[in-house]
Amino acid sequence: MNLSASSAITDNQLLEFAEPYGELGHQVAQLVKRCPPLDPNSTYCNLLQCEHFYSTSCSVLTTQKELVGFVSGYLLPQKPDTLFIWQVAVDPSQRGKNLGQRMMLHILSRDVCKEVQFLETTVTNDNKASIAMFSRLADFLKAPDVSKTVLFDKQKHFLGLHDSEVLFRIGPFSPPET
Ligand SMILES: CC(C)(COP(=O)(O)OP(=O)(O)OC[C@H]1O[C@@H](n2cnc3c(N)ncnc32)[C@H](O)[C@@H]1OP(=O)(O)O)[C@@H](O)C(=O)NCCC(=O)NCCS
Repeated sequence: MNLSASSAITDNQLLEFAEPYGELGHQVAQLVKRCPPLDPNSTYCNLLQCEHFYSTSCSVLTTQKELVGFVSGYLLPQKPDTLFIWQVAVDPSQRGKNLGQRMMLHILSRDVCKEVQFLETTVTNDNKASIAMFSRLADFLKAPDVSKTVLFDKQKHFLGLHDSEVLFRIGPFSPPET
């Protein structure tokens, strides 16, 4: 797969993959709201994400500058060889086109990730689309052995109000080709 293309034709629509810019924060918060079961965020939270963590995040915009995809991520402060993916949001109109994986590969192919060998994320056990997406990503990166441990427990961390979040750790892998 050639990752050099920063854009792709999908259903005759030109989509632009890029680092997000600060002003996108409001659109990100709206997109996340359209993507349950993601926890909704404040606009301020997503403004910070776009302002400070743009180099490890990815946006997908249509030619009309509508946001249809977003991945928020950061390098773990204690483990700079690990990219942590916080949220992956694909607008319902664009699902099933591998946009989620393509956004993560876009991030991994950047210079900021050249030392990255692991990708971590958390998923809830009932999120089949998310599990399928990360399993396919692990296959693509030739790192099919994914370790799975509970990071945030339903009772201990969420007081019974949210399902347990299971940590997926994918790797080691080599940076994807650019
Ligand atoms: C999870 C999500 C990011 C996947 O994005 P995507 O770019 O559509 O991913 P893919 O194209 O790789 O499809 C992944 C899975 O989505 C499901 N899917 C495929 N087409 C779909 C469609 N038209 N509508 C809904 N789900 C679809 C399938 O289960 C697919 O797996 P499969 O091909 O093995 O059947 C997207 O479904 C989403 O935004 N969901 C809501 C938010 C969320 O759960 N985020 C992940 C947790 S961080």
